[in-house]
Amino acid sequence: MTMLNPDAALTQRGISPGQSPLHIRDMPRAVRDVLDIRDSVTIPSRHLSPLRYPGAKSGLSKVIGELVESASQSIGRPSLFVEPFAGGASTSLSLASQGLVDRVLLADADPLVARFWQVAASETEWLIDRMHDEPVTLERWDFWRAWQPRSKDDRDVAVKCLFLNRTTFSGILHGRAGPIGGRKQESAYKIDCRFNKEALAERLRYIGELYRSNRIVDVWCKDWKDTLEDVAEWYPQLLPDRVISYIDPPYINKSSKLYGHSFDPAGGYSSSDGSWENDTAHYQLASYLRHNAQNRWILSYDNHPALTTNPELYSTSRMTPTKESTRLLRVRAWRISKRLVDLHYSVSSRFRGRRKELLLTTLPPTRVPLNEQFMPLEFNEDS
Ligand SMILES: C[S@@+](CC[C@H](N)C(=O)[O-])C[C@H]1O[C@@H](n2cnc3c(N)ncnc32)[C@H](O)[C@@H]1O
Repeated sequence: MTMLNPDAALTQRGISPGQSPLHIRDMPRAVRDVLDIRDSVTIPSRHLSPLRYPGAKSGLSKVIGELVESASQSIGRPSLFVEPFAGGASTSLSLASQGLVDRVLLADADPLVARFWQVAASETEWLIDRMHDEPVTLERWDFWRAWQPRSKDDRDVAVKCLFLNRTTFSGILHGRAGPIGGRKQESAYKIDCRFNKEALAERLRYIGELYRSNRIVDVWCKDWKDTLEDVAEWYPQLLPDRVISYIDPPYINKSSKLYGHSFDPAGGYSSSDGSWENDTAHYQLASYLRHNAQNRWILSYDNHPALTTNPELYSTSRMTPTKESTRLLRVRAWRISKRLVDLHYSVSSRFRGRRKELLLTTLPPTRVPLNEQFMPLEFNEDS
């Protein structure tokens, strides 16, 4: 398979690299004391995220909340929860809103997604006004699909992301996915059926409030590795136990059809159905998490047997830092606990056990639940 360099793959799809600022301001924002949420701002009752995100897993945020809460009994409440593959950020928002972590940091390599969160957090009222003025029509869908930003800090990138996410089939932002209701708009579900402006305004206002109250520290547009390394560099006082990274990478299977940035070597939305084994990104991530991660991590993946049997992925039961990273970066040899999580555990028994997600973590092993929902790997009938 030909390997495209990631920038070339992006440009080929009409997305220029470096399209969003790296951080909300020039430099990463410092960790500050959290403030109270203002009484005038309502916490949206069900969905906190304004984005409908492909790959966002219902059920997983709750599971991760339970895991973090349980681990807090040993290591204290995390000061910072980092989501380097943020997407719709549902887990970070859920944990921040419940107070299970003090603060969250969102990051994504996709400039559309990262810019959306940057503007939603720091220029909330502008985005809400802009959304109210935007007609939700097929003509505007065509407009936004073709539209390209004039500069990398163009705020309209956030409008493009929100518009396309709420009006495109399955919330897919790039690629060939069409508008909800089709080109003829003959379906009962028309293009605006998921664009309730009042409900979206409420969710956006809550994002702005999380940022104002310092519970969203910052939003970064970076590759996952830069995010993890920059967190260690900018917030060293929180290492190792007060930071938890939640790693939710594109799935081993099929992710190149869902995201502008996938781990497919030909780039997101590649037409190839290339085998994931050629895809070095999964191995690079595994190698980094096994040898170099300076803070504890939680990793979720599709339930693919290779992940826990291949020594270059996660067959090991412990992190194995090199002598150098132990000496220079104080990387620990934390144990890696592995569980299969039933995503339909709390739904009706008809669905239970049908969708399992793999969950790996270096949180203290005795605090990682082992029960009917957090199952041991031996329960894997799918492998
Ligand atoms: C599985 S989704 C994350 C879903 C998210 N946890 C949620 O609940 O909505 C994966 C995300 O990773 C991003 N991504 C892909 N490659 C990346 C990379 N190299 N670095 C950082 N983010 C990347 C994609 O843009 C996508 O938003």
